[in-house]
Amino acid sequence: MKPIHLGIIGTGGWANAHARAYTNMSGVALVACCDINKDRAAAFAEKWSIPRVYTGYKTMFEKEKLHGISNVAVDSMHAPISIAAMKKGIAILCEKPLATTLADAKKMLAVAKKTGVINMVDFTRRGVTAVQGAAAYIAKGNIGRIMHVEASYLQSWLSQPAWGDWRTIPAWTWRLSTKHGSAGVLGDLGCHIYDTALLLCGDISEIACTLKTFDKGGKIGPYLLDANDSFVSTVRFKNGAIGSIHSTRWATGHMNSIRVRVYGDKGAVEIDLDRAADEFQVVRGAAAMKKGLWTTVKCARTPTMWERFVTSIRTKKNDPSDFANGVKVQAYQHYSVLSDTTGRPVKVTL
Ligand SMILES: NC(=O)c1ccc[n+]([C@@H]2O[C@H](COP(=O)([O-])OP(=O)(O)OC[C@H]3O[C@@H](n4cnc5c(N)ncnc54)[C@H](O)[C@@H]3O)[C@@H](O)[C@H]2O)c1
Repeated sequence: MKPIHLGIIGTGGWANAHARAYTNMSGVALVACCDINKDRAAAFAEKWSIPRVYTGYKTMFEKEKLHGISNVAVDSMHAPISIAAMKKGIAILCEKPLATTLADAKKMLAVAKKTGVINMVDFTRRGVTAVQGAAAYIAKGNIGRIMHVEASYLQSWLSQPAWGDWRTIPAWTWRLSTKHGSAGVLGDLGCHIYDTALLLCGDISEIACTLKTFDKGGKIGPYLLDANDSFVSTVRFKNGAIGSIHSTRWATGHMNSIRVRVYGDKGAVEIDLDRAADEFQVVRGAAAMKKGLWTTVKCARTPTMWERFVTSIRTKKNDPSDFANGVKVQAYQHYSVLSDTTGRPVKVTL
């Protein structure tokens, strides 16, 4: 098998998950990495035995022969780096959220279509066994017509020091500042939970959203703390179901909790990733429904997003988590903000 040569751009905290995944894959070589912070990039290269280090992604694209890159830079750099990569014919696994605006996300999709380059968004939960297992279970009609959905993504780094002190950690401070390209918890975690709801229950057609930025003391250095840190949405799905989708960074007691419950007229599904990542709970069948009896469904392993990306490069076939899907999720974020500012439900149009 021809080795796949990959690069990583942005060598902060989450880039380690990408490097670990690629390092564990056979037939894949991590040949270069890049970060505007030279020392961070050098330390990352040493840690993961990456031979070449850059501080500018354009130079990296000029000098390297890459099959693909992971774009793990800050959110504001997702669009420029991904577009530059695609124009060089380099496959792209872009971190979420796809972009900082819906207009930029659409530009990225247009370049993807024009160049025909493999394009993918790292909605990591699509690589989680319980999530794919539940999606397949629902798609087979096991719970009948979907009526009602509850989906939440809870973190707590603003309210408890279990993740360290957010005031002193750069990876947290840029996430609190719109000027630094953050769309707040809506962009950070909201995109994941919207995408999971989309995967399980289909397209969202209308959103009524409330966003909240709690007072955290105004400013830390250059970071104005103005990005939202909680949101609550009520949504309508195209298939007629309704749902509540919410996320916060203030959920004391929750480190990184994703839970989705989908209720149909013939059964129900619950995913709780704190409980297990390889199983989900169901109520199905007349006897179970009579007693409201939940049972566990164990799932076969699903490939991770990194494995899917490498498969896409090899097969030249896009994964379902492509930029077209990323634009849908970006639209959910966009219309959530519009709903919050106008104080009314907003139809989703693409
Ligand atoms: N899919 C997931 O589950 C998941 C989890 C965590 C983070 N993320 C995403 O990954 C990205 C990085 O998050 P993080 O927690 O690692 O943040 P981080 O702040 O630790 O790392 C970001 C890195 O990007 C670098 N950077 C900034 N501008 C750059 C540029 N022009 N070129 C190259 N590098 C540049 C920064 O110097 C920094 O090292 C974010 O977009 C975040 O949303 C995704």
